[in-house]
Amino acid sequence: MTPESMRRLANAATEMLIERVRGLNDANAWDGEFREVLEDRLGSLPPEEGRPAEEVLTQVVREVLPFAARLDHPRFFGFVPSSPTWPGVVADYLSAGFNINSCTWLVSSGTSQLELVVVDWLRGWIGYPETAGGLLTSGGSAASVEALVAARMAAGHPERPTMYMSDQAHSALKRAAVIVGVRRENVRLVRSDDDFRIDMAELRRRVNEDRANGLQPVAVCANAGTTSTGAVDPLAAMVDYCASEGIWLHVDAAYGGFSLVTEEGKELLDGIERADSVGMDAHKWFFQPYEVGALMVKDRTHLENAFTIGSDYLQDTVWGTNHPNFADRGLQLSRSARALKIWMSVHTFGMTAFRAAVARGFDLTRRAEELVESSPTLESMAPVTLGILCFRINPGGHDERALEGANRKVLAQVFWHELAFLSSTSLRGVFSLRLCILNHTTTWEDVRRTLELVVRLGKEALAASESEGRNQPEQASNATGGHDELDP
Ligand SMILES: Cc1ncc(COP(=O)(O)O)c(C=O)c1O
Repeated sequence: MTPESMRRLANAATEMLIERVRGLNDANAWDGEFREVLEDRLGSLPPEEGRPAEEVLTQVVREVLPFAARLDHPRFFGFVPSSPTWPGVVADYLSAGFNINSCTWLVSSGTSQLELVVVDWLRGWIGYPETAGGLLTSGGSAASVEALVAARMAAGHPERPTMYMSDQAHSALKRAAVIVGVRRENVRLVRSDDDFRIDMAELRRRVNEDRANGLQPVAVCANAGTTSTGAVDPLAAMVDYCASEGIWLHVDAAYGGFSLVTEEGKELLDGIERADSVGMDAHKWFFQPYEVGALMVKDRTHLENAFTIGSDYLQDTVWGTNHPNFADRGLQLSRSARALKIWMSVHTFGMTAFRAAVARGFDLTRRAEELVESSPTLESMAPVTLGILCFRINPGGHDERALEGANRKVLAQVFWHELAFLSSTSLRGVFSLRLCILNHTTTWEDVRRTLELVVRLGKEALAASESEGRNQPEQASNATGGHDELDP
């Protein structure tokens, strides 16, 4: 392409992105389309001849990209949202444009140095000693796999390993345990208590029972912010217990980890600094575009022992311990320069702004909780720890079937409504609505309007089911409740 056509294409893309960001507040929080429609528009053989780049760009921006959750919409509260900063987005563009492969020091020393810097920031936020180290990953799933590989190696790769996590643990952890070779039936989902925190007595009982049966406990995974409710397991007690048993403790802080930049987060996650490893996602509560998470290990040699594999064709890349090759700390050789976006965003806005943005998630969630608790129509469904609020429509006087029907109906209506997006979860088999508030552009007005919409729709749904004279849920319940064993 000529410089002029390159510029035209990039400028057009930039304008479209800026327009998108500026228009978010007035756009739907979600748009989707069914496959047959998209296939009609997009499913074709690769063309033999090209066409003008701007035409391709325009098609993608009109016909592909809008059909997605706007995870950075100020009223997108579903799952775990993300709201990237612009310098982070530009960093990904630069990294692609400079064609960086952050695999080894030889291949990219600049971004390897930045990764060392960012990893050291993470070390400080966690409160880890100098021996700690880690790497940036594609997200929490990869961090979980890499942590459990290191744990397995540290345990001497036993023949009959078991791993433990609460029944609230993310599927990424369960999958990671299976990936590292733990048989599905040996992944223990330990009962959680009324606050959705792991039951320590039950954890001890299951470890003892397994040991008595000749199994070899390798790792316990703690939650520092479950995805359903934001519950934080008793980290300090788990660290003490695992240390006394010689079992690796991994903390899944994919969602809650970056709350550590605030005093409140530090208090909530007390004990994390003594865990063997911690996974945390910057594409969640640290305002970065996908994909960037991190795995931090208290003693980084565990990571290097687990992942360093020499090869003849990479012999030139071995520059000694002072020049680490990040490919020797995890599962990827070719890697994007993930540190760039974190580094550029933090240097652009400063930590004061980042701290305030994370704290804002805490504040808005607390206010939302107060609103739910003072509402005669809403019921709080779980204690609020970080930035997740579980609640439902329940003005009293309705049976569980009617409540589930009404709440499902509300969710479906909000889903198709343009104002906001929320998602649901199942708390011990009870259907619950759920808000995850962490977007740095979200205002109290956004949260209040969304809750008011839920109240209005909930009242209408209950009134409609009453006037029909039957309390029939809209759909058959698929609530699953807690699982004791790992389902395929
Ligand atoms: C607590 C928790 N752990 C792990 C994951 C998986 O992380 P990722 O999607 O970045 O792979 C998530 C994702 O939402 C999560 O909330």
